[in-house]
Amino acid sequence: MSQIALETKQLNIFYGEHQAIKEVSLAFKKNEITALIGPSGCGKSTYLRSLNLINREIANCRIEGEIWYSGRNINTEKEDVFALRKNIGMVFQRPNPFSRSIYDNIAFPLRRHGLTDKQRLDEIVETTLKQASLWQDVKDELHKSALALSGGQQQRLCIARALAMKPDVLLMDEPTSALDPISSGAIEDVLAELKELYTIVIVTHNMQQAARISGETAFFLSGQVIEYDRTSAIFRNPKEQKTEDYISGRFG
Ligand SMILES: Nc1ncnc2c1ncn2[C@@H]1O[C@H](COP(=O)(O)OP(=O)(O)OP(=O)(O)O)[C@@H](O)[C@H]1O
Ligand SMILES: [Mg+2]
Repeated sequence: MSQIALETKQLNIFYGEHQAIKEVSLAFKKNEITALIGPSGCGKSTYLRSLNLINREIANCRIEGEIWYSGRNINTEKEDVFALRKNIGMVFQRPNPFSRSIYDNIAFPLRRHGLTDKQRLDEIVETTLKQASLWQDVKDELHKSALALSGGQQQRLCIARALAMKPDVLLMDEPTSALDPISSGAIEDVLAELKELYTIVIVTHNMQQAARISGETAFFLSGQVIEYDRTSAIFRNPKEQKTEDYISGRFG
């Protein structure tokens, strides 16, 4: 049996009175890529952001239910979110590099977590830029501003920055939707390699992308999970009519 890296049990998420996620129970396998798909507004981002408690920062957002990680339920007041986000990293839809150098985008968060050794920082910067397939592009200009990179390069830098924390789990919210097909393809190639080392949960609107990169897929509709299975089963032989309608482009 595969091991589970992260699991939600009967998760409900509310924005004030509005319930955006209803009774969602999913278990994410270690070293697997799981895709979350579904039409706009069905709650994919809301769910993804709960997995490292980022939406706790939204004033009227309430998360009820259990989120199991590393042998404990993290959906409690006493959970240290600063430490948690080191283990469960996130890459957003729009590349959001800091307005600092390429080097510092990776080194700054590490310094905040107490790593100051220059040689060690240099090593991590190089390794993670290689993992994110950006090293060849930037190795001679590490001290240039990250904002001078292209969108696709910025997104790869954000992936490198997330990897530098050595997370167990990487959450990605439509990481390629703002990019051209070549940059998206480069990022998909990176993900295929990272899968060996990390557990990845990725939101995508792109059905072909979900089919290409993920081993498991969860289909969301109106805040609920309609179907969760191996990606090949979801795309070739869905059990639910609603899933079939969605993947064949009949709505959404
Ligand atoms: N900060 C917020 N405050 C109030 N309601 C919100 C907030 N963020 C999302 N919602 C609502 O929660 C529901 C789910 O939104 P969410 O962004 O999770 O959907 P999504 O599946 O990620 O959509 P998309 O594919 O367009 O990104 C929507 O009805 C949305 O209006
Ligand atoms: Mg979203």
